[in-house]
Formats: sequence, structure tokens, C-alpha cells
Amino acid sequence: MQNLQGKVAAITGGGSGLGREFALCCAARGMKLVLGDVDEAGMQETLRLVEAAHPGTPAATMRLDVSKLEQVQAFADLCKSEFGAAHLIFNNAGVSVGGPAWENTVADWEWVMGVNLYGVVWGVKVFTPMLIEQGEGHIINTASAAGWLNGPSMAIYNVTKHSVVALSETLALDLRDVGANVGVTCLCPAFFPTGISDSQRNRPADKADTIAPSEIMLKRAEMTKAAVQKGKIQAKDIAEQTLKAVEDNQFYVFPHRKIKQLIGLRAQAADAETTVFDSLNP
Ligand SMILES: NC(=O)c1ccc[n+]([C@@H]2O[C@H](COP(=O)([O-])OP(=O)(O)OC[C@H]3O[C@@H](n4cnc5c(N)ncnc54)[C@H](O)[C@@H]3O)[C@@H](O)[C@H]2O)c1
Repeated sequence: MQNLQGKVAAITGGGSGLGREFALCCAARGMKLVLGDVDEAGMQETLRLVEAAHPGTPAATMRLDVSKLEQVQAFADLCKSEFGAAHLIFNNAGVSVGGPAWENTVADWEWVMGVNLYGVVWGVKVFTPMLIEQGEGHIINTASAAGWLNGPSMAIYNVTKHSVVALSETLALDLRDVGANVGVTCLCPAFFPTGISDSQRNRPADKADTIAPSEIMLKRAEMTKAAVQKGKIQAKDIAEQTLKAVEDNQFYVFPHRKIKQLIGLRAQAADAETTVFDSLNP
């Protein structure tokens, strides 16, 4: 979509990090905003920043748990009732939990799969027919470099992000095959500073962890936190790059250049049928 002025952006995870920056980038283009997040205070802060930077931006918010299909449906209904449509759909909410694969609990799997995978699945399921029917729109799925490269101690996160890449590619092919005027962008950043390594702050009580984290789990969590904080590219720049990709109808977005090289090396390792590819020590 090229002219975004007056169009509607639906953004999940709009109360923090990348979702907040998507909101600011969309407002800068004269778009209307519909934010969904479990963090209501975070969304109010996003609205405050949007109002300060782009006064008068029309906006609505909804307390939304993306893992629940009926809530994602209500989110789409809100877009229609407030602004009559939704044009850019940012399936962006995400959480992270670390630890060796065998130590992750059932609650860990259900929580992270629910937000990172089913959140995107429901977003695609609910919004795609709406975009096809209105004859225009673009779906932006926030995957990750972890959708291509598997670092240790991130089994659940890696599984969900590989799934988001798979879903996004298949969705784009399916839309092409029916000739729909609906674009798809799959965003695959490496680490950048946001609240992601403090995801537990919004973990629901019914998915609370049941065991104390092991030493290795705590060590890995510290390493991930440091990697996120040290990320050299800022959420603001990733959001802007993504909006440009939408305007150019570009599918893949890799803000960190090194990731594409590593994906090539992983493909070589697979071709050689060698030992597991280690992206931290390629
Ligand atoms: N920060 C990174 O290093 C990094 C790297 C690659 C990909 N990503 C992805 O970027 C996306 C945005 O994350 P971020 O880095 O801005 O983190 P963040 O923690 O700053 O923001 C995530 C937002 O999602 C919200 N959220 C959590 N559970 C939710 C639920 N059930 N329903 C609705 N909203 C929910 C949180 O409240 C928060 O506002 C995620 O999909 C994440 O996996 C982040």
C-alpha cells in the first residue's frame, strides 16, 4: 500500500517496544490507530507519545489477549466500529522464555505458543477475509531472526518464530494464488532494545510458572537480556524500515544484515549434512 494517509493501522503489542514505534510511524503518515495489548497502561503511554508527536491522531485501544480467538475477533470488530476498516495489520505482540528445551514447563509452552504463534494465526484468520473483501490491505507479521537461526536455550521462542515465517510465506502464496490485493511482510530482526527480556511482567496467572528456574536457565536469561540491551539497531529504525517495506510491497525485512549471511551458512551446513549449525559460533 503506498498512500497510507487516513488509513487504519491495527497494532497488537502496541503498549511497548516495537508496537509503540509502529504506532508512531503510522501516526506520522496520517493513519488512524487501533492498539491492542494486555498492558493498558503501556497503551496509554503510547497514546500520550503519539499525541505529543502527532496531535489529533484518531486512536482507539482495547485490552487484548492475542492468544484468544474471540478477543482478536473483537479487536477486528473494534476497527470496523471505530473507523469502518483496518488496512495495516501488525501481528506483533510477543513474549519470550528461556531455558534448556527439556526444562520448559507445560505453562511455558502454552503461554509462549499462545502469544507468539496463535496470536499471529488468529490475526491472519480474522483479518485476512476483511482485507480481501475491502480490496486492499497489508499484513505485517513480526517474526524474528529466530525464525531462521536457532540459538540455544530458546526452544519455544525459536519454534514459534519459525512457525510465523512458515505461516507468512504460505499466506503470501495463498493470497497471490487468489489474486487478492493484500500484501504480506515478514519482519525478521535480531536483538534490539525493548521490554522483551522482561516478558514475565505480563504473564497471565493461569499460565504462571510452576517450577523454580534452574541455574542454567537464569544464566541464559541474563545473556539474552544483555544481548537485547546491547542491540545496535533501535526499535524506531526497525519500525520505519518496516513501513517502507509495506509501501514498497516488500515481503522479507532483515534489519540486521548479518542475519542473511548466517542463514546462507546454515543452508550450507544443511547441504553438507554436517553437525548442527550454531549461529553463535558459525
Ligand atoms: N526485542 C527483540 O530483541 C526482538 C527481536 C526479534 C523479534 N522481536 C519481536 O518483536 C515483537 C515485539 O516485541 P518487543 O521486542 O517490542 O517487546 P516488548 O515486551 O517491548 O513488547 C511486547 C508487547 O506485547 C504485549 N503482549 C504480551 N502478551 C500479550 C498478549 N497475550 N496479548 C497482547 N499483547 C501482549 C506486551 O504487553 C508488550 O506491550 C515480538 O513479537 C518479539 O518476539 C523482538
